[in-house]
Amino acid sequence: MSSTLFSPFTMRGMTIDNRTIVSPMCEYSAVDGNAQDWHLMHLGQFATGGFGLVITEAAAVEPRGRITAQCLGIWSDDNEAALGRVMRFCRAFGQAKMGIQLAHAGRKASTHRPWEGRNPLAADEGAWETISSSANPQDEGWHTPKAMDRADMDTVRDAFVAATERSDRLGFDMIEVHSAHGYLMHEFLSPIANTRNDNYGGPLENRMRFPLEVFAAMRAVWPEEKPMGVRLSATDWEENGWTPDDSVVYAQQLKALGCDYICASSGGISGNTRLELGEGYQVEFAEKIRREAEIPTMAVGMIYDPHHAESVVANGQADMVALARGLLFDPHWAVRAAAALDVETSSPPQYERAYGFRFLREKEREWAQPRPADAAD
Ligand SMILES: Cc1cc2nc3c(=O)[nH]c(=O)nc-3n(C[C@H](O)[C@H](O)[C@H](O)COP(=O)(O)O)c2cc1C
Repeated sequence: MSSTLFSPFTMRGMTIDNRTIVSPMCEYSAVDGNAQDWHLMHLGQFATGGFGLVITEAAAVEPRGRITAQCLGIWSDDNEAALGRVMRFCRAFGQAKMGIQLAHAGRKASTHRPWEGRNPLAADEGAWETISSSANPQDEGWHTPKAMDRADMDTVRDAFVAATERSDRLGFDMIEVHSAHGYLMHEFLSPIANTRNDNYGGPLENRMRFPLEVFAAMRAVWPEEKPMGVRLSATDWEENGWTPDDSVVYAQQLKALGCDYICASSGGISGNTRLELGEGYQVEFAEKIRREAEIPTMAVGMIYDPHHAESVVANGQADMVALARGLLFDPHWAVRAAAALDVETSSPPQYERAYGFRFLREKEREWAQPRPADAAD
């Protein structure tokens, strides 16, 4: 058998062994932005799990850009050292390439962790001032952010640049810029959040200006041979919001600045988002952006069946497939998916006796029988 999903893919000087990607997953388990043992386990299991690429959770480029006080950070020497320990483990034992997602939470910062209710922190709970494109809160009861002035924009841009330099020192193979889910970059892009009336608000060209400035500044210090991509929300799922057509224009502009791929996610800009959930519900956006902006894409969102994942890349809807929640069910998903598709993927020698065991490989194929609708053309 041959598989497109388990075939290599190259961006600049980085070749991933296969197109299964570990999507960023916030763990809300850092201390002052510093990665802990949890991160060692969380990222380590994926680095050794047969995936082509592991992308860390959103790493905040400055403290006020954290969603919660426990979010991972990359603004200090301490943060760099703590993440360095995780990277050394992943390098020593993992087969996957390692990417980092760099982020700023904007007006969605300063909240409780999901398992504590996600609500904004109160003043006596350590709330901090949030910033955004405009002084519009995410939803009723949320913090009203400070509308960023030029000095704030310079500070945030420089923080992204410094984080890019730290990421290179840490040996990351690639960077993904978080420009989705209603966080700071998306808050500039979307007319729902951005009501500025200067050069950074109004028409699409103006709303894209700051995210593009940040991307260009990062690209300028990120090594030429290393890829850099962007995760965007392809639609706000709201009337008068950001659209898939806007995403194509943004992707074209990013591409011109040296962006190597787009990860097509969606939603997150307000409490009014009406998501239409379903298996592979965002694949159509990856397909559209790939076709119309002529840039590689990563599909994400409710993709779990190995044959479905295979069909997404084999049919040219996307170049890579990222998974998140399914991997929390099964951190060894890539190895199981490879067995189900009757191909091999990289694995640590310690586990080879299982992965090469014909009885189990056959069981894996039974476990993931192809469904007629998934058959690749
Ligand atoms: C626990 C958890 C944390 C997440 N954290 C991030 C994050 O840091 N950055 C991001 O862009 N998306 C984040 N996401 C979204 C996922 O990367 C992914 O896009 C989404 O869950 C849809 O994929 P899935 O259906 O395979 O889970 C997170 C999702 C989960 C479940």
